[in-house]
Amino acid sequence: MAGPEHSSREPERPQPGPPHRRAHTSARDLERYSGLFAARTQVMRSSAMRDLMAITTRPEVISLAGGLPDTSTFPPASFAAQMTRIAQESSAEALQYGPTEGFERTKECIRAVMAAEDMSPDPDDILVTTGGQQAIDLITKTLVDPGDPVICEGPTYPGAVPVFCSYEADTHQVEMDADGMRVDELEALLDRLEADGRRPKFIYSVPSFQNPAGVTLSLDRRRRLVEIARDRELLVLEDNPYGLLRYEGDPLPPLYQLDGGDYVIYLGTFSKILSPGIRLGWCCAPPPVMEKVVLGKQAADLCTSTLTQYFVSEYFDEGRWREYIGSLTGIYRSRRDAMLDALERHFPNQAEWTEPAGGLFVWATLPDYIDTADLLAKALRDDVAFVPGSAAYADGRGSSSMRLNFSGSDEDEIREGVRRIGKVVWDQVALYETITGEHRIPRPVADPAAPAREAEGAASNDSAEVLPLRRRDGER
Ligand SMILES: Cc1ncc(COP(=O)(O)O)c(C=O)c1O
Repeated sequence: MAGPEHSSREPERPQPGPPHRRAHTSARDLERYSGLFAARTQVMRSSAMRDLMAITTRPEVISLAGGLPDTSTFPPASFAAQMTRIAQESSAEALQYGPTEGFERTKECIRAVMAAEDMSPDPDDILVTTGGQQAIDLITKTLVDPGDPVICEGPTYPGAVPVFCSYEADTHQVEMDADGMRVDELEALLDRLEADGRRPKFIYSVPSFQNPAGVTLSLDRRRRLVEIARDRELLVLEDNPYGLLRYEGDPLPPLYQLDGGDYVIYLGTFSKILSPGIRLGWCCAPPPVMEKVVLGKQAADLCTSTLTQYFVSEYFDEGRWREYIGSLTGIYRSRRDAMLDALERHFPNQAEWTEPAGGLFVWATLPDYIDTADLLAKALRDDVAFVPGSAAYADGRGSSSMRLNFSGSDEDEIREGVRRIGKVVWDQVALYETITGEHRIPRPVADPAAPAREAEGAASNDSAEVLPLRRRDGER
């Protein structure tokens, strides 16, 4: 007898009823549920990026907000071939639960990625996670009690802030400069905490092409940080999604390599070198820590997607993953250059920004009277988005800064997006000058050397007429 797929008649599918659309939450609703909420929900914070994602999926919006890799560069034919092979050869296994720690085959792919940065973890020290984000969550869940100090960079990865908040960590942020975290300031902070009898549970750092600042921890500081961790017996949580996305200069050793994995817990992800949609990341930790983290993972989601682990193994078996990263770095390098050039053209002199040698982000800081959360509301009216700097701090600092992403938009969109943001920045400057009577920032002057595209834009766009574009020769 023919199976259902050979039947000539489609089996009848139960039809869903009309959706039950909920009116907006009323005060009564809030009252009804709020007595049930755990105390920790009081300190939970929304991820600014997730909120922005909802707005920025509108096609007319140029989003420089997300940290989106350009997944359109991945060849659909390869994707189809890999998934077909899985369906034909390993369908039952790929659709089944898997071990909490992850498959050995996935761990071999992870070891290959880490070997590219000179690291060689024991497979037993690796846990495959649902993205790097879950690894941050699991480690924090494992180590942090309410009120425990956690140290991170200021600014830090905006997605880590809600994690630290939801476990009620006492988050301390150490300033950065062009060489990454100020390790001297870190030591001073550690001394202060120690004097109060407090010991941080970990120091979270994104040493290479930091999200959001784009800066990289220098070799001297890397060595010193690892020394500090050893001398004071502290854990460092090294988050390294971008180490292989280098556009110039020589690679630097990860902290995990310098330390050998005793005091440094390492986080990695396939999100930026392959796909964030597959939700595959990992952490490497010493066995006593790993044991607890695995328990946390079991409670959270039993195991990481088996299907996407199969996909990664197939993809790595093809042996072209380094080539693909090479193609990504070529594309992102040009986009970074387009962004730096556009910033120079459209932002006022008093603005500063970082010049990343890799990764996906530029961090720009505006005059201190501009609040980038307000600025974002205005920018969204002009269909452009960025992440306001306060999302990268646990305490509201960073309000004059913004994170700009250059991987998720093409060069024309980046130029246009930065032009639109530049316009709202200049509007704020003009408003400030009108209110205060100050003329702190020289007005832009028309640039005779500006490319034709801009000159045309100026003729057809009244915002460009109000704010003529110019180049700030000789300065960045
Ligand atoms: C520093 C850092 N850590 C972790 C993540 C989370 O990545 P995923 O969960 O997609 O692996 C990101 C994503 O942007 C990131 O920039």
